[in-house]
Amino acid sequence: MHVRGLSSKLISMAPATAFLLPLLSSVILLSAVVAVRASPPGPVVTCRSGNSNCTVTNAYGAFPDRSTCLVASVAYPGTEQELLAAVSAAAAKGQHMKALSAYSHSIPKLSCPGGPAGRGLVISTVRLNRTVSSDPARFRMTFEGGIKLRELLDAAASRGMALPHSPYWEGVTLGGLLSTGSHGSSAFGKGSAVHEYVVGMRLVVPTAEPVADTGYYAKVVSLGEDDRDLLAAKVSLGVLGVISQVTLQLEPMFKRSVTNRVVPDVAFENSISSFAATTPYGDIIWYPSQAVVVYRDDFKLPVSTPGTGLNDFIGFRAQPTLVITSTRAAGGDIQKLAEENEDTNGKCVLSKLNVNTLLSLGMGFKNSAGVIGFTGYPVIGNQSDIQSAGSCLRSREDGLLSACAWDPRFRGLFYHQTTVSVPLVNATAFIADVKRIRDASPTGALCGIELNLGFFMRFVRASSAYLGKTADSVDIDITYYRPRNDPRRGRLHEDVLEEIEQLALFKYGALPHWGKNRHVGFVGVKEKLGEKVEEFVKVMEKYDGQGLFSSAWTDALLGLRGREVLVEADGCALEGLCICSADKHCAPDQGYRCRPGRVYQESRVCRKIEEAGAGLIQSA
Ligand SMILES: Cc1cc2nc3c(=O)[nH]c(=O)nc-3n(C[C@H](O)[C@H](O)[C@H](O)COP(=O)(O)OP(=O)(O)OC[C@H]3O[C@@H](n4cnc5c(N)ncnc54)[C@H](O)[C@@H]3O)c2cc1C
Ligand SMILES: *[C@@H]1O[C@H](CO)[C@@H](O)[C@H](O)[C@H]1NC(C)=O
Ligand SMILES: *[C@@H]1O[C@H](CO)[C@@H](O)[C@H](O)[C@H]1NC(C)=O
Ligand SMILES: *[C@@H]1O[C@H](CO)[C@@H](O)[C@H](O)[C@H]1NC(C)=O
Ligand SMILES: *[C@@H]1O[C@H](CO)[C@@H](O)[C@H](O)[C@H]1NC(C)=O
Repeated sequence: MHVRGLSSKLISMAPATAFLLPLLSSVILLSAVVAVRASPPGPVVTCRSGNSNCTVTNAYGAFPDRSTCLVASVAYPGTEQELLAAVSAAAAKGQHMKALSAYSHSIPKLSCPGGPAGRGLVISTVRLNRTVSSDPARFRMTFEGGIKLRELLDAAASRGMALPHSPYWEGVTLGGLLSTGSHGSSAFGKGSAVHEYVVGMRLVVPTAEPVADTGYYAKVVSLGEDDRDLLAAKVSLGVLGVISQVTLQLEPMFKRSVTNRVVPDVAFENSISSFAATTPYGDIIWYPSQAVVVYRDDFKLPVSTPGTGLNDFIGFRAQPTLVITSTRAAGGDIQKLAEENEDTNGKCVLSKLNVNTLLSLGMGFKNSAGVIGFTGYPVIGNQSDIQSAGSCLRSREDGLLSACAWDPRFRGLFYHQTTVSVPLVNATAFIADVKRIRDASPTGALCGIELNLGFFMRFVRASSAYLGKTADSVDIDITYYRPRNDPRRGRLHEDVLEEIEQLALFKYGALPHWGKNRHVGFVGVKEKLGEKVEEFVKVMEKYDGQGLFSSAWTDALLGLRGREVLVEADGCALEGLCICSADKHCAPDQGYRCRPGRVYQESRVCRKIEEAGAGLIQSA
């Protein structure tokens, strides 16, 4: 038995690794050098008849609990007046509703209306994508809520203005990115969250009674810079109503100078705060298995500085669907293959290749537009060309030649994402603990995350927004394999990531990103936010007293109506729907049992326990 197990393991490892190498490099290199035509993502709402009887999903084609979202219909208002009419018609019949952005890039089930399944309304914001006005004297511009980030950045740039910070991914919409508190990276000034630069907003909110002069069951609320309710509206999880317009405080266009610097990870945790304090747009990527750190030295320069650099981040470039598809035909995606062969070493070899390739190509930064582009650091370019990227979204729609890497139509990357904001005061201790976990775990246990930017760290400041951060924080993205077809399948070394997830959340008081994370990320979020949640709920009740824009998920987040974020069921811990307290919450049939963490003893994780004698195989 054991001998057979051993040899099949060795045999399976060799071809897997040898086979994967050229495949992965071809994905990266093809997308790096071939000018492929991109296909925008598919629709997130599909209807059986006209605009009725629809299914709503997100950009990945799956919510964390893999549930489906059925709605009665979708509305496509093109003006604020049409938006008012749509909200009013639903409110008049007490119908639940939600705003739905063009591509719906949030992972959690935020865009699904509450109430009985199949009865709600989604209000698409795709047609609400205009620039409303600009005030060049004060560097302010007003946009409709459905405008996509790239369109917004370009509209501002054409008037010589720039948004100080934004998410790195340009496929999000203004209304959607604000609703989840999205950000770039900075501990300077007001920090990197876009909502810090909101100076006005117009919302369409439902009313319980018809409004006297219009007869509508809805009204427009206009919030100015000093209006306290703006502290709720800036980051609202979409529960106040629909964001019709937003006025942003911009800046005159400026340039950025970017240099990526690779250093060993020895004691780097001691320098996180000082790096944040000295680098206005800095971020840090930590590759814990390779024991290296990439510091992004990133500064502001006058717009007159020479440089036409731009950011065409490789992870957001179009991937030829031919490669995605042939990868699948050859036996599943790269990570799936390594997972199924329990090929830790294969993952480590791949991640080294991946990181070396990324670094040698400047991560996708280009000194100027063109095919090759990257010739060396620093890369200097306009803010609008450096801050956000996403070329997989652009160019013509022409027969699905290429797509964003996670496009579900091609069964692309499928992953979990744990995104936690650790208070900066706790960052050093947190990373030191993670190093202890790494050192106590099997060699290479963290290689998987290095295929996806490792620990990707960005800075966000404490906010007066009720659902914003409570402390200056380092926001850490950890992205890892999720089996597409089988939620009950244990994942290679998943215990290590679960321990780190719980360490951040429960020992170091981290807050979750509202638009990312598995259910476990949101445990106790109400307590962490404290009275800010009560302030938020007061405003919510003022604008939507009937809770028509709320759902079971948003109620659970805000601690309302007895809803809970965790789901208890067999196998629930495998996908972060619960924290295991018994083996049945893991996958005991596959050997995954509920155990304490190796370093953070209070954590409970699903660990694969080999049968007696199988340890020989491990060490072979
Ligand atoms: C590849 C990728 C990269 C990312 N990079 C970053 C990053 O660098 N930084 C970061 O912070 N985040 C990042 N994110 C997360 C992303 O910014 C958030 O998930 C964001 O909320 C998505 O915006 P969206 O327009 O797709 O909104 P959705 O996900 O569609 O909506 C989010 C919520 O907002 C509501 N909503 C949408 N529009 C409106 C409106 N007009 N009025 C009222 N409510 C509305 C929806 O109902 C929903 O509740 C990234 C996500 C992806 C997929
Ligand atoms: C929606 O589907 C249901 C059942 O599948 C059907 O009874 C109903 O008529 C459909 N409604 C519309 C507007 O098509
Ligand atoms: C708004 O969306 C429409 C169609 O959805 C598109 O044709 C138009 O170019 C967009 N407008 C802007 C300013 O991007
Ligand atoms: C950078 O911005 C300036 C000021 O708006 C503009 O004149 C210039 O053309 C921009 N450069 C590039 C490469 O777009
Ligand atoms: C930092 O971590 C400690 C425990 O190590 C915790 O008590 C404290 O609340 C955390 N700080 C913040 C600001 O959350």
